[in-house]
Amino acid sequence: MSNIKVIEYDENNTYHKDSIIELSETFNFYKDDIYANIYPEKTIEYIKHKFPNVVFTNSKKNEFLSMLKSSTGKVYGYLLIDNNKIVGFVLLSDYQNFIRYLEMTFIFIHPDYRNKGYGKLMIKIISHFCNKLNYNGITVGCYTDNKEAIKFYLKNGFLLECIKPRMLYDDNLNETYKKAMYLIYNIQK
Ligand SMILES: CC(C)(COP(=O)(O)OP(=O)(O)OC[C@H]1O[C@@H](n2cnc3c(N)ncnc32)[C@H](O)[C@@H]1OP(=O)(O)O)[C@@H](O)C(=O)NCCC(=O)NCCS
Repeated sequence: MSNIKVIEYDENNTYHKDSIIELSETFNFYKDDIYANIYPEKTIEYIKHKFPNVVFTNSKKNEFLSMLKSSTGKVYGYLLIDNNKIVGFVLLSDYQNFIRYLEMTFIFIHPDYRNKGYGKLMIKIISHFCNKLNYNGITVGCYTDNKEAIKFYLKNGFLLECIKPRMLYDDNLNETYKKAMYLIYNIQK
């Protein structure tokens, strides 16, 4: 029998972190970015291990370290649990703290649990969380080809802010760009 609940993500809990990474690995969901968000201190080693053929110069290393520093702050989040197994997660970062918006860095629901309202529930929970901590709202970036997610955000109160290229790294760790939509959810005060 299913026993679904939502609990707070604890960034000191290795089981939480490793389960998220396992889900992202299994479903090929932003696994490198998620790793960087969850284990920023281990990211350089991870990248070296993953791309053994890439020459990792000191300047490349510094570029990565400053990119990580600027793109991750404290990580908050919630986990969707079914019988003690993590089947979904949402992670938020406060690196835009100066404007009091939280960035939703990732939302993921296991495919077997989609289209049941759990994504909507996660948005409701993080919106309460933002309100409680006196944030003004939530921002999210989403590649324009992720039609399902865009539809989901628009249906759940996010508004389109802009469309612009987002930088990412290709398999040789070279910078590349992909079109992304940036959306914003304003907390009703
Ligand atoms: C985007 C995502 C998080 C949505 O999660 P979800 O749990 O499926 O979301 P919901 O169930 O709340 O809503 C999805 C659909 O299910 C419908 N739904 C909700 N409850 C339902 C129910 N009880 N029965 C049937 N359908 C239902 C919703 O109306 C919605 O359908 P619609 O878009 O046709 O209106 C999920 O698809 C996902 O993890 N995608 C992969 C990761 C990803 O791309 N993340 C975003 C990166 S930017």
